[in-house]
Amino acid sequence: MELPFAESWKIKMVEPIRKSTREEREKWIKRAHYNLFQLRAEEVYIDLLTDSGTGAMSDRQWAGIMVGDESYAGAKSFFNLKETIEKITGFEYVIPTHQGRAAENVLFSYLVKEGDIVPGNSHFDTTKGHIEGRKAIALDCTIDEAKNTQLEIPFKGNVDIQKLEKALEEYCDRIPFIIVTITNNTAGGQPVSMENLRQVSKIAKKYDKRVIFDSARFAENAYFIKMREEGYGKKSIKEICKEMFKYADAMTMSAKKDGIVNMGGFIATDLQEWYDGAKSYCVQYEGYLTYGGMNGRDMNALAIGLDENTEFDNLHTRIHQVEYLAKRLDEFGIPYQRPAGGHALFIDAPKVLTCVPKEEFPAQTLAIELYLEAGIRGCEIGYLLADRDPLTRENRFEGLDLLRLAIPRRVYTDNHMDVIAVALKNVYDRRNEITRGVEILWEAPLMRHFTVQLKRL
Ligand code: F0G
Repeated sequence: MELPFAESWKIKMVEPIRKSTREEREKWIKRAHYNLFQLRAEEVYIDLLTDSGTGAMSDRQWAGIMVGDESYAGAKSFFNLKETIEKITGFEYVIPTHQGRAAENVLFSYLVKEGDIVPGNSHFDTTKGHIEGRKAIALDCTIDEAKNTQLEIPFKGNVDIQKLEKALEEYCDRIPFIIVTITNNTAGGQPVSMENLRQVSKIAKKYDKRVIFDSARFAENAYFIKMREEGYGKKSIKEICKEMFKYADAMTMSAKKDGIVNMGGFIATDLQEWYDGAKSYCVQYEGYLTYGGMNGRDMNALAIGLDENTEFDNLHTRIHQVEYLAKRLDEFGIPYQRPAGGHALFIDAPKVLTCVPKEEFPAQTLAIELYLEAGIRGCEIGYLLADRDPLTRENRFEGLDLLRLAIPRRVYTDNHMDVIAVALKNVYDRRNEITRGVEILWEAPLMRHFTVQLKRL
């Protein structure tokens, strides 16, 4: 008999979590104005708000913390990190930053100016923010298939090459670079194929443009290439990573995801010109070049995390868990962005809460219901997050309205996944009784979802 699957690690340290009563949760969520960001973490039983900075470090990483070098300049920990990044990506120049958006800020300060157009595949919010904040435009060239949640294709995060070529033809002079997000978080943690990365690189060369990878979940992307793309089944994750980064000139990294650290990020490139251009912004915004925004100890932990998480067993354990949760949801017929993503499942809320009108925010309503049901905190990636049109000030209802259940790395067990699935099923079973959603009482002019105050209707 074939042995069943099990995790590629064992547990050395635990953190107790506490269940609450529905009555308590009713009180807490009301106090939080029905905004899950406003809850205290103690009021949450299973926290799926994000997979960012929430992973569990290994014993090796904790050991790395103890031997961190905190020298202001030239710290040994920096060189550990730099050598690891170079080994995995091939990039020679490294600038540490305090997290991913800081890497964007430093690099884009050098590269993006007013009137520019930056094509990419579903730019992440902060990436878009750093582009639009400089009065430039983030042009989405994701394949159309990504919008159909029920369509099952292996690389739903891909760039639409025709859309990209059209942009390059039309706006060539205004394009400072192309940015490809691996995996594509906004489209559901969906991977980008090696073939697609190759094509982007080829077309970029044709128009003499550079390519940046927003690499927060690059290791998970490499795992999907190994599992799904022809010709890669026998390659190691590290070999696949090396090949992926051959098709980029630089990367920005939120190390809080695939680096499995609680805080950190970096820029890496093989262009000395870009390094020289960005480095003064690093000194200005982050810190001196050999620590940027990070402690020596954290750079050590990150170097080890990157090495560990570019090994197959670790990634297999992780993505197997996300797929396990997806299978449980399939049993109950709960619709999500298919196939399961690398770091999260994205529930198609309007398909669940069919009676809640879009004006009353179905995904946020589902997030509240799931919290009330079992103390599980997900995150609305939908109409609230989409904000208002800057000109008309109307709500933007054109995109998807999803409830993201992001799974922290090496934190929860499959028993927790069962609780999540059954809690969601219980909400699903009474979906026809949920006919009203929420109304906005107060909202900030920008990035409203973090602080919005809502009323339950
Ligand atoms: N790029 C991607 C693809 C991301 O998902 C994130 C963060 C960032 C950049 C910014 O990195 O948070 O370190 O500054 N995503 C988190 C999330 C917040 O929940 O998806 P950061």
